[in-house]
Amino acid sequence: MPLDQETREQLISSVRRFVSERLVPLEDKVARDDLVPDSVVAEMRELGLFGLSIPTEYGGLGLTMEEEVLVCFELGQTSPAFRSVIGTNVGIGSQGLVMFGRDDQKNEWLPKLASGEAVASFCLTEPGAGSDAAAVRTSAVRKGDHYVVNGTKRFITNANRAAVFTLMARTDPQNKGAGGISAFFVPSNLKGITIGKPERKMGQQGAHICDVVFEDCHVPAQCLLGQEGQGFRVAMQVLDRGRLHISGVCVGVSERLIRDAAKYALEREQFGQKIAEFQLIQAMLADSKTESYAARCMVLDAAKKRDAGESVTMEAACAKYYASEMVGRVADRAVQIFGGAGYVTDYGVERFYRDVRIFRIYEGTSQVQQLVIARNLLKSLG
Ligand code: CAA
Repeated sequence: MPLDQETREQLISSVRRFVSERLVPLEDKVARDDLVPDSVVAEMRELGLFGLSIPTEYGGLGLTMEEEVLVCFELGQTSPAFRSVIGTNVGIGSQGLVMFGRDDQKNEWLPKLASGEAVASFCLTEPGAGSDAAAVRTSAVRKGDHYVVNGTKRFITNANRAAVFTLMARTDPQNKGAGGISAFFVPSNLKGITIGKPERKMGQQGAHICDVVFEDCHVPAQCLLGQEGQGFRVAMQVLDRGRLHISGVCVGVSERLIRDAAKYALEREQFGQKIAEFQLIQAMLADSKTESYAARCMVLDAAKKRDAGESVTMEAACAKYYASEMVGRVADRAVQIFGGAGYVTDYGVERFYRDVRIFRIYEGTSQVQQLVIARNLLKSLG
């Protein structure tokens, strides 16, 4: 059920206030410490941010996709590392359970995920299975009432904080393709699970990604999500949704960078005038604004279609492709407008420039989105 207009506006304005008053002042500290403080995480829990997408009967806000992307437009107005703290509970960590879980699984986990008491991560990627997600080698062999899981998952967001994993593993060794993969919802405290150290990264300090290693881990059979062999479909449907969420964040970041660059251009003087008066600066601002606006419209349209029950695999890929490439160009122009000040750390623009680079890679690279778009387009005509 969509929120009524007044509640929706209240939600958006409370997130906007939280971002500008609490998160923006902490951006530099979070980047230096590579940590979002516990006090901020507690405030995020209070605001209900961990449960944006989780149905109300489990204590979440039960937002529609359109409402969720409107919140993403606000969360994008600060360092993406903050969004990452709640991102897996809202998206890829929880949505397999929401869409495919049994009632007992949902009753056990969704209230904890909605409140932020427990964090969920999404274990798909492996050293040999990145863009080729169907190449998963992690095995899950059925032995009586449990599966024995072996394998390594890579670049898993929030794994070091996770209480539970949405895990994709191969249950049918004879089937090397997508149909041999099953999904599980696995507590992280089982014997045989080791979490690696957070990777050092180009950007988004404060957001952590780690290896998750399964060694003869006995996963109870009731942890299976959906049916055996359905795991790839679970992963793809979760990603269709996640790609819209990420697109919304890209739009938010672009709006922040355009605002910062325009304000700077209105202050900075060269050749005896504000640089905002130069048409070459104006052209960069105009290009950024046009592209950001186009992405905003695209994301909202795809979100509304999804809410109306349409399959949006192609539209979500279009949005992710365009919005993530767009924010890269906007960040590049922002650095250019700031000039030397954009290259030093004090102004934070270079940090955003590094932060946004991953948007073109995670939850499907731009090249994977191109593949998905073209395949769906051709299928619809063929
Ligand atoms: N919804 C439902 N089903 C889908 C689907 C979708 N969106 N996409 C594919 N499927 C189904 C297909 O219909 C097909 O089913 P049938 O065999 O019954 O026909 C099956 O899944 C296999 O589909 P494909 O033949 O299209 O599969 P493929 O091997 O050619 O791969 C791909 C397609 C688009 C390249 C896919 O592998 C992909 O999306 N790769 C990118 C993976 C990705 O995004 N990884 C990011 C990991 S998460 C992350 O980054 C976050 C983090 O924590 C860091």
